[in-house]
Formats: sequence, structure tokens, C-alpha cells
Amino acid sequence: MKFLRDFNFYNKRVLVRADFNVSFGDDGRVDDKEDWRLKATLPTINYLLNQKAKIILLAHLGRPEGKIIENLRLNPIAQRLEELLGRPVIKLDDCLGREVEERLKALQKGEIILLENIRFYPGEKNNQEDFIRGLAKLGEIYVNDAFGTSHRAHASFVGLPKYLPSCAGLLLEKEVKVLSTLLEKPEHPLTVIIGGVKISTKIKMIKNFLDKADDLILGGALANTVIGAKGLAIGKSIVEEEMVEEVQKLELTNIKLHIPVDVVVSVDSSGQAPSRVAPVGNTQKEEMILDIGPDTIELFKRIISQAKIIIWNGPMGLFETEKFTQGTKEIAKAIAQSSAFSLVGGGDTVNCLSQLSLTEKISHISTGGGAMLQFLAGEKLPGIEALK
Ligand code: 3PG
Repeated sequence: MKFLRDFNFYNKRVLVRADFNVSFGDDGRVDDKEDWRLKATLPTINYLLNQKAKIILLAHLGRPEGKIIENLRLNPIAQRLEELLGRPVIKLDDCLGREVEERLKALQKGEIILLENIRFYPGEKNNQEDFIRGLAKLGEIYVNDAFGTSHRAHASFVGLPKYLPSCAGLLLEKEVKVLSTLLEKPEHPLTVIIGGVKISTKIKMIKNFLDKADDLILGGALANTVIGAKGLAIGKSIVEEEMVEEVQKLELTNIKLHIPVDVVVSVDSSGQAPSRVAPVGNTQKEEMILDIGPDTIELFKRIISQAKIIIWNGPMGLFETEKFTQGTKEIAKAIAQSSAFSLVGGGDTVNCLSQLSLTEKISHISTGGGAMLQFLAGEKLPGIEALK
């Protein structure tokens, strides 16, 4: 795999695939709590600016499935990038076509263009050859700096390297370095904390770390499937029935595996109805598990305090409802206070740290959610493989 330092970018049109998939505030802008993925790409953009390259940014937002969706246009991203870089970022309303080509031909050294949401084109997801060729015409060198989307075998990841000299940007390089070290030579005790909703998307990582980690903590709705698989009552909690059998095959009695010992339950997830703390297994028929309980928080905090490496992905409760954010917040604070090397990834998880102003206290915030999980499960990422 090649890196930025292997190329001379002077006066070259450089296509940079970035991951700017962020949420917007109520005012439709990207604020300083949501711009972490933009900030993470600045080193690569600045490196290319120093080399007097002509920069063309490619990015997606949401999942428009090949159609133009007005509120998924990238204008607020261009605006925030301009603020962060302190120089103009010209946003075009398209990705391809004669007008785009003409504009890019006239591009000056040090200019930055952001093309429209690349997922407005079906060719991106379907990896269509004519779409890839159209994109490749726009640049002379391709840089992948979008670690967070490198698990997708889409045109802007696996297609462009077939046509253009290619390399990894500084963010992608750093992510791969940090994650590979943790995966291959972790210090011990290694504590892995996995939350969120779907155990199906995290089962491979769980299996991998049940072997490698010293402690594997499960929280959030995905722990319900484990609790249910152990034959304990979960009432009306979110559960992935189809995963129960697979979860039962895990070594559920392994002492490394920690699931909640008590939980916060309520009949209503909006936070309007009363809630109570119940020992795990004591959830009534109409109730749902919505957060981890105080004893669980203490147990998890104790484990975190002893760790040398902490990996965290996924909230411990229903983070969208303020009443059920306690568990996630306490875990976030415990990780931030720990002297261990901490790696945190996943949109909701990083947003939680951001809201608590704790991002500075984390050793490495990964820009990958799904990508980080796939990497840590020991799988290959198509976007990274394509660069090799
Ligand atoms: C993410 O937000 O994890 C990445 O941008 C990938 O987005 P996707 O899951 O829609 O492919």
C-alpha cells in the first residue's frame, strides 16, 4: 500500500475520498459537536495544500440509494470545512458531467472542491464501470482517507484504484496503524465494551474478543439477546430472535464475559412513564430494558479501572432518551478518567463523548463504526485491500 509521502502532488488534481457522514444540528449546520469526522480529515487536506495540489473531495451523506434527496446535499459540510480550514471550499451540485469536468480543468493549485453526495448516483453503490470511469477522468491521483466507509465495496473505494495511482491518506494510515497494533499486540488487561442495538452486526467482533480480551463487557439492547438466550426474562425489550441460537453457541459462562446484573426498565421508551431498577431476569411482561442499572455501572467501572487497553463501541442504553443515558454517560466518564489506552468508535458512542466534552480524553477516536468493527473482527476491508 502506498502513502501520501510516496507521491509528488504538486499541481496535480487529487481525488480524495473522505468520510463526512455526520449529523446536522436543528439549524441544518454542522456544529463543533458533530464535526469530528471533518476535523479528522484536515491533516490530509492540509498536507495536500502544502504540496500545492488541486483538491477534489468525494464524500457521501446518509443512504439516498441512488436518488437525489435535497436534505442530503453536502452544502453544510462545505460550509463547516471552510470554517475549519479558513479558506474557500467550492461546492458543486454534481459529481460528474461536462460542467464538472470544465470546472475541474480550470482548477488552480491550492483550490478545494467538494463534489455532491456521491450516493446520489446508483453507480456508487453498484460499483458500475461507466460511473467509475467518469469519476477517474476528474483526477490524476486517488487518495482514500475515508476509513469509516472502507468496509463498503463501492465505486469510490474499489473502482478508482483500478484507474488511478492510489494511496492511503493520513487518517486512513493512522487508523490502520492504531487498530492493527491493538489487534495484533494488545497490552493486557484488555477490556472490550460493546453496546448498541444489533448483536448481529457485532457477533464476529464479540467472538474474536471473547478469545483475545481479558474482559468483554456487553450492554445496550444487544445484551438483551444474550440475557434472553440465557433463559432470563426480558419482557418486551428489543431482541434479535433470529440471533438467539447463535448467541447460545457462545461460551456464555466464560468468566471474561460480563453482562448487566441489574437494569433500568419501563413500560415506555419515551421516558414519560415511571421506570425502576430491576435485577436482571426480573423484567415484567410489559416492561422493556432501557439502560444498565447502578450495580452494573459499578461493576463495569471496576473492570475499566483495571484495564491497560479499553476498546468501546455502542451505547449502554437507549441514548436517544435522556432518562436512559445514565449508564452510557457513566461508562464514558470512567473511560475518560482511566489511564489506559482508549479506543472509541461508532457515531452514537463518539457523539456521547462529544456531548460530555470528553473526546480530548480518549487516546484514539476511530472515525469508523461498522468499519472499525469489521477491522477488529479480523476481517479485510475492501477499500483498504483495493489500495494494495
Ligand atoms: C458510517 O457512518 O459508519 C460510514 O460513513 C458508513 O456509512 P454506511 O453505513 O451508510 O455505509
